[in-house]
Amino acid sequence: MRIRQHVNPLKANFFQIAVEPPELPAGVPIEVELGSAEAHFLMTRAAEDAGRFYLGIEIRRDVVVLANAACERQGLKQVRSVFANMSVDLHRLLPAGRVSRFFLNFPDPWWKARQHKRRVMSPELAAEVFDLLAEGGEIYVASDVFDIALDAMSVLEHDCSRRFVNLREPWTFLRENPFAARSRRERQCEMMGIRIWRLGYRRT
Ligand SMILES: C[S@@+](CC[C@H](N)C(=O)[O-])C[C@H]1O[C@@H](n2cnc3c(N)ncnc32)[C@H](O)[C@@H]1O
Repeated sequence: MRIRQHVNPLKANFFQIAVEPPELPAGVPIEVELGSAEAHFLMTRAAEDAGRFYLGIEIRRDVVVLANAACERQGLKQVRSVFANMSVDLHRLLPAGRVSRFFLNFPDPWWKARQHKRRVMSPELAAEVFDLLAEGGEIYVASDVFDIALDAMSVLEHDCSRRFVNLREPWTFLRENPFAARSRRERQCEMMGIRIWRLGYRRT
């Protein structure tokens, strides 16, 4: 199967995906990766902490099929990926207040009609994440592109005291990945010695 490396999430048909909401197990914390690709990060999170449910949201349908097949082969029933657009579909996939953690690992840096649409963590996405997080829930963002990390920080800092609190101090990046799990892009960056910018916030 030929897998597309990128799709343009601003194309009209990605605003009308017939999303299939996943079955969420009751009473189990849920972690969500936005733009989960082959779900490597979530699969390694499941190995790190098996007592949670892990949901990947990915806009490349073929990659979702491959990720779910790989999880099935490995008996990882608690990891599931869905074909959806994180910019518009989150509220159709998840009930309010249900998510323990969101991860936005290495968002694509370039579907951005000349620079300003570079912003992946938009104020709209931050508001959606806030609604879906449980009280005390967290969001982590990582990128090897400083401008993208700073953009995400400025959106989340702008919300601070109202909605999110920086896990360290205001306008401060995390020193390291607090989890053992690594996404594919993160492993590549580490192997190539590329600096990673990380931020973490807690829902007030
Ligand atoms: C650079 S890759 C990073 C993949 C993975 N998180 C990692 O760290 O290795 C970004 C991923 O986000 C997906 N993506 C981009 N825009 C998206 C959107 N609006 N909704 C869902 N997924 C999206 C892409 O298809 C791609 O798989």
